[in-house]
Amino acid sequence: MITLQDVRSNEDIAGLIDATNQALEVLGYTEHGLRHVGYVSHTAEQILRELGYPERRCQLAAIAGWVHDVGNSINRHNHGITGGALLFPILRGMGMPVEEVTTICTAVGNHEEQNGLPVSDVSSALIIADKSDAHRTRVRKKHFNLDDIHDRVNYAIKLNWLEVDKPRRVIRYEIAMDQSSSVMEFMQIYLTRMRMSEAAAKYLGCSFDLVVNGVVVNNQARMPVEGENGSSS
Ligand SMILES: [Fe+2]
Ligand SMILES: [Fe+2]
Repeated sequence: MITLQDVRSNEDIAGLIDATNQALEVLGYTEHGLRHVGYVSHTAEQILRELGYPERRCQLAAIAGWVHDVGNSINRHNHGITGGALLFPILRGMGMPVEEVTTICTAVGNHEEQNGLPVSDVSSALIIADKSDAHRTRVRKKHFNLDDIHDRVNYAIKLNWLEVDKPRRVIRYEIAMDQSSSVMEFMQIYLTRMRMSEAAAKYLGCSFDLVVNGVVVNNQARMPVEGENGSSS
């Protein structure tokens, strides 16, 4: 069985991750190297593990997380699709069974908000993990630019955490922002990613709560219950 460790030690994959991070640095994007793919790998695996998915599905989510951004080494545009196509021969060449390879390639090919949708358990976990990596440590110190909204928003996020509440079927994504940016700016660049995370959580049979500075900002509309919000009649 091909493990995350095998994939991490593969020199083609290591080279693609390196090229991805270098190209995106030149283009002025936030960090996309080993820290980002390590976070996404670990988080995607944990989401499925905490929801009780079979061990191998958790391992495939970890592998998908590690390799999901390699398509950026070719071009930022459609990098999910390019990545899936690049990975198929590499993973097959490592001896991974075709059903596992297609699970990973389909998940990678569907992780971008511009052209992707949650299409499996692994794909859904990958989406939520990837979209939740907003944090001060992603801003590249060398190129920090206060005029760039992505740098401002990421820099403002001092804390972020993702919690899976299996009994209540809620995936809760919480961030704490300081004054370097605003909730409005966060929503400006993260709205479609958060909508995609809602859809991915739904695929996993959960709802997705987005909590910014202690306030749920995406609560679902529901009829007022008598006695709530100060109404007593
Ligand atoms: Fe990506
Ligand atoms: Fe990513």
